[in-house]
Amino acid sequence: MPSSEVVKQLEYLFKPEAVAVIGASRKPKKIGYEIVRNLLEYEYQGKIYPVNPKAEEILGLKCYKSILDVPGRVDLAVISVPAKLVPAVLKECGEKGVKNVAVISSGFGEIGNVELEKEIVDIARKYGMRLLGPNIFGLVYTPTRLNASFGPRDVLPGNIAFLSQSGALGIALMGWTILEGIGLSAVVSLGNKADIDDADLLEYFNADPNTRVILIYMEGIKDGRRFMDIAKKVSKNKPIIVIKAGRSEKGAKAVASHTGSLAGSDVIYSVAFRQSGVLRAISFEEAFDWARALSKLPPPKGENAIILTNGGGVGVLATDACEEYDVKLLDMPEDLMEAFRKYMPPFGSPKNPVDLTGQASEEAYRGAFEEALRDPRVHSVILLYCETIITDPVLLADVIIDAYHNAKEKKPVVVNFVGGEASDKAMRKLEREGIPTYPTPERAVSALAAVYRWARYSGHI
Ligand code: COA
Repeated sequence: MPSSEVVKQLEYLFKPEAVAVIGASRKPKKIGYEIVRNLLEYEYQGKIYPVNPKAEEILGLKCYKSILDVPGRVDLAVISVPAKLVPAVLKECGEKGVKNVAVISSGFGEIGNVELEKEIVDIARKYGMRLLGPNIFGLVYTPTRLNASFGPRDVLPGNIAFLSQSGALGIALMGWTILEGIGLSAVVSLGNKADIDDADLLEYFNADPNTRVILIYMEGIKDGRRFMDIAKKVSKNKPIIVIKAGRSEKGAKAVASHTGSLAGSDVIYSVAFRQSGVLRAISFEEAFDWARALSKLPPPKGENAIILTNGGGVGVLATDACEEYDVKLLDMPEDLMEAFRKYMPPFGSPKNPVDLTGQASEEAYRGAFEEALRDPRVHSVILLYCETIITDPVLLADVIIDAYHNAKEKKPVVVNFVGGEASDKAMRKLEREGIPTYPTPERAVSALAAVYRWARYSGHI
């Protein structure tokens, strides 16, 4: 299918005018009940049609015996009936003219029922429907307030699209992003990828103005060449981060028994990802660290980073991390050192790291940070702070936010505060204002390094 056709059809998956839930249940805690509840309580604005031959009404909504009885058009049908009933239900969806189906039901290829899986794909193709799943927890698209999943309800809006081949991990990470204050444009459970796969969704989110970064938890890909070809193109426009599980021999075996995917040679994956601009993360913590930076920051205009700190120790740790992750530190010109000297006592260091010393005030930070944002030879800033009683972390956060928003030129800035409760509060404030923060200097540098890797691949530098 040409990419423009894929995008056109998937528009109805993420922005449907009407959603039917087939297998909508009358009983709380059952999957078919919770999906209807999520649609209602996440305040999806389109029409919701529960379908259940035995029910009159579910959660106050009129219930239909079959999708064929539903008045008006249906763009998305979420199917939550036992596997053996799925083919018949799908045929009815096809006759109704449904554009996309999301099959929640398990019991297909993942347990060896490949024939049944093939049968449902054939039915979907026959009627021109795209099929998400089977064996999924559903999907969420925050711009349309669509939560057609049985995962957590209050997904925070943002611009990271998160695609997961694992169900339980996907659901868990949905909850975790809420706790961490990470905003998402979409959550998509991929399951067995019988029809819609990672490559289709890359095409869609590449064209989606509400998405800036695509993050995928992947165990295996069926058509590696197609994925890499599309990823190569998409990565030039938007960063793609992949957590590819099954790196070790035993991990690969675990993948085979989990989703039935072939994990494949890890070295081949690594090389292919690198060639197609995909940023490979080792853990979900690392993946979301990078995604927060890439979704918030502008690409740098050059290689030169500087470290601003009030603590020598964190400055050294960040320097080591820069070396390790390939972030280049600016070789400080004499005149710039002079400029930084104004904001530190005589025993400070204006080299890179710029050490404002433990007695640095909020205003010293302001002066040095503004200088860094102003000077065209500085392309990015790693701002570190160790909590002292000299400087109030929350006031410091205000100073950083003010300087960042008032800077003439936007540069990537990553922040690490080390301290107690007040530092944590300050970091949350910075995060809300679009400045990514990290609990360690190494994680801050690793995130900036990801921004650099993408900027190099996409030709920004
Ligand atoms: N059309 C519409 N509704 C139908 C129907 C049909 N043809 N046939 C039955 N139903 C109704 C049932 O009456 C029931 O409603 P009720 O609870 O009000 O009686 C509802 O659909 C669900 O059917 P039920 O037979 O009770 O199934 P279930 O809810 O126990 O299980 C699945 C259905 C899909 C949830 C289950 O088979 C499954 O696959 N679970 C795993 C899902 C999963 O983990 N996915 C992967 C996540 S990562």
